[in-house]
Amino acid sequence: MSNILICYFSGTGNTKKVVKEFAKNMQNFGATVTLHNIEDGEIKQDLNNFDHIGIAYPIHAFNAPEIVLDFAKTLKKCKFKSKKPLFIIKTSGEPLVLNNISSTKLRSILKKNFVLTNEYHYCMPYNIIFRHTNNMAYKMWNTAQNVIPIDCQEILQDKIDKLSYFPCRHFLSWAFRIEHWGGKFNGKHYKVNESCVKCTACAKRCPTHNITIENGEFKFGKNCIMCMRCSFCCPTNAIKIGFFNKWKVNGQYNFDAFNESETQTHKKYCKKAYKKYFKKMETKISQNMQK
Ligand SMILES: Cc1cc2nc3c(=O)[nH]c(=O)nc-3n(C[C@H](O)[C@H](O)[C@H](O)COP(=O)(O)O)c2cc1C
Repeated sequence: MSNILICYFSGTGNTKKVVKEFAKNMQNFGATVTLHNIEDGEIKQDLNNFDHIGIAYPIHAFNAPEIVLDFAKTLKKCKFKSKKPLFIIKTSGEPLVLNNISSTKLRSILKKNFVLTNEYHYCMPYNIIFRHTNNMAYKMWNTAQNVIPIDCQEILQDKIDKLSYFPCRHFLSWAFRIEHWGGKFNGKHYKVNESCVKCTACAKRCPTHNITIENGEFKFGKNCIMCMRCSFCCPTNAIKIGFFNKWKVNGQYNFDAFNESETQTHKKYCKKAYKKYFKKMETKISQNMQK
């Protein structure tokens, strides 16, 4: 019986949803699964007890969020008897192949102690840039749910499955990591408007404790990681996200029902890439059914 650890970060719930689906399926295949939320800090267990270790994150500007990279650095200190098999799970709003470079830095931090065996990328609806339709969210989630059992089996059966990377990935990944600095800078310009009902959910939920309330005033510090949890989950859509306010997405998606009458939006956006993504996933699912 395999013993699996999945360490994850999720800003607005998409990655957590995918990780929970992984855990459910792996348990159905007889594995024991431990989930560790990266927000809770360093992991205390002896990692030698796990057969496979997974790291899951949402792609931020074609990279892993800084909180994930910082966590990975803590894993460097662990003493391993041998290199551990590592799988990476990532979610992102669009399926551009450029997203494949997002694990470049993470892999280089972990290369001493881990050997990457599997890497999976699932499209989940945007939490910034624009709001996908609920029908698109439904289609993305439905696809992920159908392919995750196959991906889980691959990991448990030690079947290697990796993504393709292109040559200048180190430079591109480094250049896009400006987002880590940019997020901190932009985060100081967040503001709360008059529709705020002072529920303080944003301050309570912020993964970096970056939001404080002084004399009823909301203060945004310099540790924002642009995860979007505060503005995405705000019940009155009261948070202005600095210079990116036009890209704000507020409110949970409905993943559970296809609505025939919903108007399709952003029809042309990354049309070819989405088509290719869904086709690739459908092929994997149908090939698995024929076995
Ligand atoms: C700051 C930021 C940058 C993002 N950059 C990308 C990106 O480069 N490519 C992409 O496809 N999606 C990008 N996204 C969208 C998220 O990766 C996507 O919505 C993800 O599923 C969110 O997962 P979560 O709910 O677990 O946080 C970005 C989101 C944020 C907040």
